[in-house]
Amino acid sequence: MKTNSTRRKFIKQLGGTSLLLAAGPFKSLASETSENRAMPFSPRISPNDKIRVATIGLGIMGNVDTDSALKVPGVELVAACDLYNGRLARAKEKYGNNIFTTRDYREILNRKDIDAVIIATADLWHARIAIDAMNAGKAVYCEKPVVQKISDGLPVIAAQKKTGKPMQVGSQRVSSIVYRKAKELYKTGEIGQLNCVEASFDRQDALGAWEYTMPTDGSPTTVDWDRYIEGMAKMPWDPKKFFWWRNYKDFGTGVAGDLFVHLLSGIHLITDSIGPKVIFASGQLCYWKDGRDVPDIMTGIMQYPETKEHPAFQLMLRVNFVSGQGEKGVTRFVGNEGVIEMLDNGFTITHSLMSKAPGIGGWDAFDTYPKAMQEELMKEYNKKYTADQQKRPVKPPINYTAPENYDEHLEHFKNFFDGVRDNKPLVEGPEFAFRAAAPTLACNDSYFQKKIINWDPLNMKVV
Ligand SMILES: NC(=O)c1ccc[n+]([C@@H]2O[C@H](COP(=O)([O-])OP(=O)(O)OC[C@H]3O[C@@H](n4cnc5c(N)ncnc54)[C@H](O)[C@@H]3O)[C@@H](O)[C@H]2O)c1
Repeated sequence: MKTNSTRRKFIKQLGGTSLLLAAGPFKSLASETSENRAMPFSPRISPNDKIRVATIGLGIMGNVDTDSALKVPGVELVAACDLYNGRLARAKEKYGNNIFTTRDYREILNRKDIDAVIIATADLWHARIAIDAMNAGKAVYCEKPVVQKISDGLPVIAAQKKTGKPMQVGSQRVSSIVYRKAKELYKTGEIGQLNCVEASFDRQDALGAWEYTMPTDGSPTTVDWDRYIEGMAKMPWDPKKFFWWRNYKDFGTGVAGDLFVHLLSGIHLITDSIGPKVIFASGQLCYWKDGRDVPDIMTGIMQYPETKEHPAFQLMLRVNFVSGQGEKGVTRFVGNEGVIEMLDNGFTITHSLMSKAPGIGGWDAFDTYPKAMQEELMKEYNKKYTADQQKRPVKPPINYTAPENYDEHLEHFKNFFDGVRDNKPLVEGPEFAFRAAAPTLACNDSYFQKKIINWDPLNMKVV
């Protein structure tokens, strides 16, 4: 642990080496023994500005994460771990024959030349590997949801606190410039007082419903099935439970843990919320009846209590894998004066302000009264309210589009590596991530156990 923080300092110092030399520190260095001088430059530190990374889990996201990480200057991939041989072979094809590959992540953690690991395994392995990695002195970038089970959240947070290792969780929306801009406007009161958030993630095809292309050679020989189910009751090899793991509650977290979690990360970022108090979910398996034991349509309802950061609001979530409208995701922040609607690459804010006067006539009881009474009511109304007070004030809409080529995923990695290099604060540490993940995991508990879940967002515990 100490060595690694020294390494971070060393990497930081390297940038200022020429400045240091120009300032003429030779005298003080000369007064030290050579042994003392060598100490900060421990052999495990490469003499250049590299952060050496290994990826654990090289499926779809492991590849995407690794590609983004490697776009950050000074980052180098040195090792890869996966349970399926085909993915290790592909890693060598893609990242070079010289990278070290293994099926056992502990071999990665035992290596002294690795500074940081990217964990992009199936959900069930996130917590175990993250805790082991931080205890082994590695910085951790762990995919969302940070844990598969609510009971694993506090141990991950404790491990991060104990080791002091940087840990970033991979909900890249937290690094989105679009969400940050929307937050600025939300905070200045652009939609008035928030009362409800509606958010959805809809899809309508087999790949979107997690039926990914299977390899031609998947078998207990090419896959380390026993390691995959380590700690679980023995079960026979099942390619679906390995390659389509999201569809099984023993391995994944269903649509709630997989997709609601992105929605909650964005919502918590904008509102500065620590989470809901009451959680309820309903769902059904409607179309993708391929043996999965999780629903393909789910709705979640959460009540966020008033805090000093935000008023009380209702959150309505939906995932529909049979959407009838293709792929579409919406998040709408509804306030008493307008709505922020998050789009793919920007947002719009529209306003609707109420008039001072309550209105009269139209869909109203007014017309049901005798004529003379109507005239009297109208006279009184016009006396009480000016023409302006009778109109709804108009406020122009606001549209925002992210700069071209803005890449929130890359920004999320830049922030992570800034943390690794310079100890800068990370935007998505394990507490933020667990506060976004736990209510979504509670949606699964609510659905499977048919009950309302009460959550203590401050202490991060089911009540
Ligand atoms: N941030 C995002 O937008 C985003 C998008 C997609 C997926 N994800 C997350 O990324 C993770 C991976 O998803 P995916 O779609 O890449 O899945 P995937 O099935 O394509 O890849 C998972 C890989 O992990 C490997 N694996 C499983 N257990 C392992 C272990 N103990 N040690 C080493 N390797 C192991 C498997 O062999 C597999 O290759 C999930 O947690 C998912 O929620 C995040």
